[in-house]
Amino acid sequence: MPDTLSILDNRTGKKYEIPIENDTIRAADLRQIKVSDDDFGMLSYDPALMNTASVKSHITYIDGDKGILEYRGYPIEQLAENSSSYSEIAYLLIVGQLPNQLQLEAWRADIQRHTFIHENIKKLTEGFRYDAHPMGTFISTIAALTTFYPEAKDIFNAETRMKQIHRLIGKATTIAAFTYCHSLGRPFVYPAGDLSYTGNFLNMMFKVGESRYDVDPVFERALTVLFILHADHEQNCSTNVMRSIGSSHVDPYSAVAGAAAALWGPLHGGANEAVIHMLEEIGSVTNVPSIINDVKAGKRKLMGFGHRVYKNYDPRAKVIKKLADQVFAVTGRNRKLDIALELERIALEDEYFIKRKLYPNVDFYSGLIYEAMGFRMNFFPVLFAIPRIAGWLAHWQEHILDQEQKITRPRQVYLGLRGQTWQPIGKR
Ligand code: CMC
Repeated sequence: MPDTLSILDNRTGKKYEIPIENDTIRAADLRQIKVSDDDFGMLSYDPALMNTASVKSHITYIDGDKGILEYRGYPIEQLAENSSSYSEIAYLLIVGQLPNQLQLEAWRADIQRHTFIHENIKKLTEGFRYDAHPMGTFISTIAALTTFYPEAKDIFNAETRMKQIHRLIGKATTIAAFTYCHSLGRPFVYPAGDLSYTGNFLNMMFKVGESRYDVDPVFERALTVLFILHADHEQNCSTNVMRSIGSSHVDPYSAVAGAAAALWGPLHGGANEAVIHMLEEIGSVTNVPSIINDVKAGKRKLMGFGHRVYKNYDPRAKVIKKLADQVFAVTGRNRKLDIALELERIALEDEYFIKRKLYPNVDFYSGLIYEAMGFRMNFFPVLFAIPRIAGWLAHWQEHILDQEQKITRPRQVYLGLRGQTWQPIGKR
């Protein structure tokens, strides 16, 4: 059987043979389908890009029906269970293979060296209002890095590119922690080279003054696993933004700032914060049934439920639920966890959710864990953005080196007015 798709255009009676490759047809092949010679040619219309593959990628594989997520071919469950560091996963995503001991040590040292930030960035952080949303400060500060490293625009120089990758991964935790300290009026804590990526981050966040702060190993491990789970998720909204901005060949700081802005929305990485707001609003386990009724009546959404791709379960949510048990064993359970468990129990038995294949996603429990660990609610999107930077950078690099790619420029179906004649303001 030939790997082609036969299309019969009933408007003209013409038949077309379109090649099929990797179960896809090239949208550009549709352009030959014309009614007349001056016809522009057929386009595919795909709002929200629900059924359009815009890249060929080797980074992350998802099978939404089977609940499979793999980074570079490794199942997420194996990585979350066995990998001892987020840095190792960042290497896997960006370089393409797991590092050996020497490679990992060199990679860690490169990232650690770049955790320090220019003192002017500290001043920049101090310029934000104390009650600024941390994600707003984080995005702006990441964007500002472009002014400190003008060489970053030399994106086709492999060495320069890798340096910016080290810088972005290294500085993200420091910028986030400084943002947090500024919002509380606490002195900034500088990076400590002898700690792990997540251990150093916790230290910069929660160490106060000169007093000793011992990173809790359960919290450090939990944060490492959460960072691993959030490190990449193929062509989601923010990664698509990263690739799209990167396709203009701008520097990676500008592109990461744009991707982080896309992540902040409540339908994407802002959902973990929205879940906690929702649980607070529900207030008590006894109110759960009426919330479920409101959702079924279309009056509201259940935040932390549903996913564009996963229609079976979100494998990340399974790992996170186990992690939640470990963290709550240290911190003690809280009322919101009980509400969340009841919400999940009722929803999973309800016809509305079953029919629509709505399951808890990665954000349903992550916010509860972050809160139990002492992070403030408005900081949760930042906790999503930090680990996702590795994923964004892996996709950015793949994109700009892909010979098939060009500047992203979708088409539109124009349905507006044409041929209007300008009128002076007094005549309108
Ligand atoms: N609560 C109630 N109903 C829902 C929900 C929800 N969370 N999500 C989807 N539905 C319903 C939706 O109303 C629709 O019903 P109907 O067929 O009767 O119109 C049906 O399920 C299909 O939904 P959809 O809007 O076509 O699904 P989508 O693929 O466009 O949206 C989503 C995916 C994640 C944006 C959506 O499920 C949602 O808004 N969830 C809540 C926000 C959230 O938790 N986001 C985090 C996603 S995971 C982290 C990340 O990767 O960003």
